[in-house]
Amino acid sequence: MLSGTEWQEGMKQGMRDRILMILLQNQNSFISGGEISSKLGVSRTAVWKIIEQLREEGFHIQSRSNKGYKLVQIPDKLDETVLRYYLKSRKLGQLVELHDAIGSTNSRAKELAQEGAVHGTLVAAEEQKTGRGRLGRSWSSPPRVGLWMSVIMRPGFPPHFAPKMTVLAGLAVLRAIRSITGLRASIKWPNDIIINSRKVCGILTEMQADLDLIEYVIIGIGMNVNTIMDGFPEEIRDSATSLFLECGKKVDRCRLMAMILDELEVLYEEYEKTASFKGILDEFKENCITLGRHVRVVSTSGQWEGTAVDLTDNCELLVELSDGSKRAVMSGDVSVRGIAGYI
Ligand code: BTN
Repeated sequence: MLSGTEWQEGMKQGMRDRILMILLQNQNSFISGGEISSKLGVSRTAVWKIIEQLREEGFHIQSRSNKGYKLVQIPDKLDETVLRYYLKSRKLGQLVELHDAIGSTNSRAKELAQEGAVHGTLVAAEEQKTGRGRLGRSWSSPPRVGLWMSVIMRPGFPPHFAPKMTVLAGLAVLRAIRSITGLRASIKWPNDIIINSRKVCGILTEMQADLDLIEYVIIGIGMNVNTIMDGFPEEIRDSATSLFLECGKKVDRCRLMAMILDELEVLYEEYEKTASFKGILDEFKENCITLGRHVRVVSTSGQWEGTAVDLTDNCELLVELSDGSKRAVMSGDVSVRGIAGYI
């Protein structure tokens, strides 16, 4: 049972979100306080108080007598209403948990999934204190400059389909980067997103499954969006980049996050509907810079080299050895690097 104060706070937050949504939907024109107040059935004074609150939060809202209010600038922070304004998806991101700071969004998403959270639930944070990367590595996730997000998906597929989910996520990120910044990113198999030979985004897919069915998959996406060079830990300064560094403009993180979720839903539903992965895999291959390169495969049992020649239908990397034989490599526990450097 909610206390009186909690109930009031909830009402105030709800009103704040509705007024913000109206302002977002009318960004190019003024909307009068009277119109907002009659839409929502509250007094003009109540509207004015919320407008003041939004200004304090960093929203730039112009006001003109006889004309009303116009939203002219959105602050650079993750906001559920702003995200909802951009989102077109029907399932992904419909339930959202946003944090100022958290250990790892993937770990939190896992907890939620175990408690029964629905397909599409999103966890995102301004900062991760213990962000996790592939192969037990840590993932630098400084405050307010990146996208640190995890989506819970419940595909009705068997466990060996899990690598396909990583492929869908990689393509969704690629498409979203392209449509928002115009930058052409590529994929270093299995799931590093690369621009100009540097890593801009990594994807960590984690799964819970029975023998024959995936219970849930967590798609964790970590993207350096507005990071400046000094914002990277020294040890990755030579190999990391951000969208800001590549395109020279700050990128709206809520819009980018919405676009990734929209694209992921489109790709996922296309696959669910058609049961055909060919078109998706072809698009992945076209954008995969690993193919055709001489690579070194590093696993716990040793290292070996060859040329990456193709991807199998199960999304394994097919590597040709010097004797002409071919080995299929699964993404789970290997690191694949170019002979001359990171790519
Ligand atoms: C990699 O390239 O090693 C994968 C990096 C994945 C990082 C993201 S950030 C959001 C989510 N939460 C985590 O702890 N990790 C993933």
